[in-house]
Amino acid sequence: MLDIQNIRKDFPILNREVNGKPLIYFDNAATSQTPQQVIDVIVDYYTKYNANIHRGVHSLSQEATDAYEQARQKIQSHFNAKHSHEIIFTSGTTHGINLVANGFASLLNDGDEIIVSALEHHSNIVPWQMLCEKTGAKLKVIPMNKNGELVLSDFDSILNENTKLVFVNHISNALGTINPIETIIEKAHTVGAAVLVDGAQSCPHIKPDVEALDVDFYVCSAHKICGPTGVGMLYGKEEWLKKLPPYQGGGEMIAEVSFEKTTYADLPHKFEAGTPNICGGIAFGAAIDYMNSIGFDNIANYENELLEYATNQLQCIEDLKIYGTSNNKTSVISFNVGNIHPYDIGTLLDKMGIAVRTGHHCAQPIMDFYKIPGTIRASFMFYNTKEEIDTFIAALKKAIMMLS
Ligand code: ALA
Repeated sequence: MLDIQNIRKDFPILNREVNGKPLIYFDNAATSQTPQQVIDVIVDYYTKYNANIHRGVHSLSQEATDAYEQARQKIQSHFNAKHSHEIIFTSGTTHGINLVANGFASLLNDGDEIIVSALEHHSNIVPWQMLCEKTGAKLKVIPMNKNGELVLSDFDSILNENTKLVFVNHISNALGTINPIETIIEKAHTVGAAVLVDGAQSCPHIKPDVEALDVDFYVCSAHKICGPTGVGMLYGKEEWLKKLPPYQGGGEMIAEVSFEKTTYADLPHKFEAGTPNICGGIAFGAAIDYMNSIGFDNIANYENELLEYATNQLQCIEDLKIYGTSNNKTSVISFNVGNIHPYDIGTLLDKMGIAVRTGHHCAQPIMDFYKIPGTIRASFMFYNTKEEIDTFIAALKKAIMMLS
């Protein structure tokens, strides 16, 4: 059992008011809030040992380098990667995906095929379309059903020996569906295709084991997991990271440079050109420590309770339709009420201190599938409460009355 009131004390932002009402923060799928333990690490870095890393002989640089590399090891151990050099610091999930897409541009040929799912965020669609334009490869799509689940029998029929890459999110940001990535990875490997899993939405709810999954690439962002924005990680199997060319050229990613020829540094530095988000990387490590101190099993159990509690109440509201009704989903609820525009409900909820996201959630193909312009999305984290859900339901009913 989690002591939620005690956990809430870790998050100073949860004490603030919005529009004269206590903040109820239900936009966690967009970004999570930051506990004091992580804020302290950020303050500590800039107060005591701000310096550039891997470059200086002086003590500050050494301290910053040690803390940054320790954070990499924490991430390695959290995701159960075999080597710490398989963890590449990025600016976030989108950066990780683009790094891999850019690398594959030199490995794909005309006639090759790549597969994405119908449940993807734009960041896991557009880079692959750009890759197809560059290489002549074809993009194919695993379709979804009306519950917001992938139709795996159709995956079987589009997977073949021309398939070189498969991309799928672990959890849909728009609907909360948990995708069967284990099966997808296994099937993709039977034809020799590499698999990239977008873990942006799963990292705050599930602790993935990249070794057990046998996944080729896994990407996520720190800000979804109680860390800061502007930093994330790409896990790549050593053999793949060795095969892919660097994404950006610059300092620290080289072994030797002359005007005639440059050789590249070993992993992970080959993919980390320029001064990175040093403080962000260290704080990412602290966020992982924080989440593990609460425990991912505890988090999942409690968030499932919140999901069920909120779903039951929402289902009792007349004309309310929930999109994404898989039995295997996380604490994200996307819905609409009659013909009311999601934006109008979102604006009125904000006036009552409640933060939700409205719109297409950067997943327009999902909205097209349901033939809607967007939804209202409430997404919960372990620091939310049933009392907050009660207030949200009452506020929603009030908003509906005002707009009907
Ligand atoms: N991808 C984030 C979301 O779903 C920003 O809100």
